[in-house]
Amino acid sequence: ELGQYRHYMQKEIFEQPQALANTLEIIAGGGSISPQLFGSQAAEVFAGVRRVLMLACGTSYHAGLVARYWLESVAKVPCTVEIASEYRYRESVPDPDTLVVVISQSGETADTLAALKHARSLGMTRTLAICNVPESAIVREACLRFITRAGPEIGVASTKAFTTQLAALALLTLALAKLAGRLPEAEEARYLIALRHLPVAVQKVLELEPQIEAWAQRFAAKHHALFLGRGRHWPIAMEGALKLKEISYIHAEAYAAGELKHGPLALVDRDMPVIAIAPADELLEKLKSNLQEVRARGGELYVFADAGSEIAESEGVHILPMPEHYGMLSPVLHVVSLQLLSYHAALVKGTDVDKPRNLAKSVTVE
Ligand code: M6R
Repeated sequence: ELGQYRHYMQKEIFEQPQALANTLEIIAGGGSISPQLFGSQAAEVFAGVRRVLMLACGTSYHAGLVARYWLESVAKVPCTVEIASEYRYRESVPDPDTLVVVISQSGETADTLAALKHARSLGMTRTLAICNVPESAIVREACLRFITRAGPEIGVASTKAFTTQLAALALLTLALAKLAGRLPEAEEARYLIALRHLPVAVQKVLELEPQIEAWAQRFAAKHHALFLGRGRHWPIAMEGALKLKEISYIHAEAYAAGELKHGPLALVDRDMPVIAIAPADELLEKLKSNLQEVRARGGELYVFADAGSEIAESEGVHILPMPEHYGMLSPVLHVVSLQLLSYHAALVKGTDVDKPRNLAKSVTVE
């Protein structure tokens, strides 16, 4: 079953172009953006939605965090994202005009299911499940569903489920933007082109594997790592840190780069590799000055830099040029390089990549 691959995780990372193409098949060819992508009742459920609340755990929570940037900037819909296990046990203020979106690969995560039931018990009946398993408990509990078509994910570390969740959430963003009259035709066409091209763009990132492997060799001996990102790439830094912890057992933390001097900078020395996501976007100049702060403390920098970011290699500054800058969908490309990084770090460390210690694929208990 593994074919040319050594582990399911590696196979699943490399299946992402296909998983994305399958998930996005509904907009292939002449398909356009509409609520129908989320089922025949979606137009009714979406009408009058004033806010979005996303509930999920782990990697699926990170997908929600990325989508929050999209929903607020493109659809102008206020959005909050909450860890399911926190939401279900706290007193919150229910709002019937909120669309509750639960995100789950397995559809069986106990906390996410309970959070969905809790939201419904508070009178929030507009619910959507974004899930990879059609017959799962979470899908059955929600009124709308979007099934990602990642195919079975065996490795405990979630990879292709995450990128297909992002694809689904991009479609949701565009559908809500269109309903609100905030998606001019020309822009819709531009987003559709970018989405249809996404599998090819991801394929190009996969081709960076040899260089990423070389980086992994360099820092697999370290005990700690810091991941930095800004804006919609901050959740990608969080996802990179989670992946590294989960399968290589290297302690990793993620910070919004602007928070560096509010504490974590104190940790930076030559033994602390700092992995930075540097897309060529409006926050690039800010990020560059954060990186200088790291360098000034002797921290070794590993920078995934988009074409056009003009960050130069120098002593202690390693640059990996990303194939292209991908606008709103750029997080989908950047996460793939971080998946490869943690996979190869784990290989160097000799851990059980597909079944890391203490973890289960599907967390059906609290
Ligand atoms: O099946 P779900 O997406 O609901 O699972 C949520 C988390 O348990 C899961 O994403 C977990 O964090 C992964 N092992 C991360 O790689």
